[in-house]
Amino acid sequence: MAGECLMQTISAIDAAHELLKKKLQNALTIVDATAGNGNDTLFLAQNSLESAHIYAFDIQKSALERTAEIVELYRNKVQLILDSHVNVEKYVVTRIDVAMFNLGYLPGGDHAITTQAESTLEAVMKIIDCLATNGLLAITTYPGHEEGLLEYNQLVEYLRNLPMQEFTVACYSMLNHTIKAPVLYLIEKVRR
Ligand SMILES: C[S@@+](CC[C@H](N)C(=O)[O-])C[C@H]1O[C@@H](n2cnc3c(N)ncnc32)[C@H](O)[C@@H]1O
Repeated sequence: MAGECLMQTISAIDAAHELLKKKLQNALTIVDATAGNGNDTLFLAQNSLESAHIYAFDIQKSALERTAEIVELYRNKVQLILDSHVNVEKYVVTRIDVAMFNLGYLPGGDHAITTQAESTLEAVMKIIDCLATNGLLAITTYPGHEEGLLEYNQLVEYLRNLPMQEFTVACYSMLNHTIKAPVLYLIEKVRR
């Protein structure tokens, strides 16, 4: 039907989930750096081992309350952390097998509370430093809003310079959309 809006099945976040699934099968230490409404935390919990431990960060209490509700079934393996992901090393002391950032602001929440370029970059650097060999980090960026564009530019600059002997960095973007469409980056630690 003309003008009908069909469900997207190849969005950046769907692609992130698909690509993380295989790694999750053996992952023990998992980080959701931006828990938000809990959809990603739930995905990580549903697709990981019983013995996995998921650290889910958010700076908004309401976001973690929402996440707690939807991951209720998996509460034994999900640790909700009301703190910035920039403090990741205070909580996660082992190598990280799988991590994800779904940047920006909480859908349906206060758009002024959004991830910030500097702290995001710092947290991404810390997590990359702690990735296990064969570990995978997925970052969904939103260059369509002001802070998101800053964040996107800084991240791309950093990611494109990661040494290829140690990391493979891939990018998934919408070729026929405007430059405002979300872009997914995947960083795999391929060698120690
Ligand atoms: C796009 S939402 C995440 C969506 C979420 N993963 C989901 O499945 O619903 C981004 C989240 O990042 C959170 N956030 C912003 N700055 C943060 C920070 N420094 N540390 C941790 N979370 C942060 C926001 O509060 C917001 O809930």
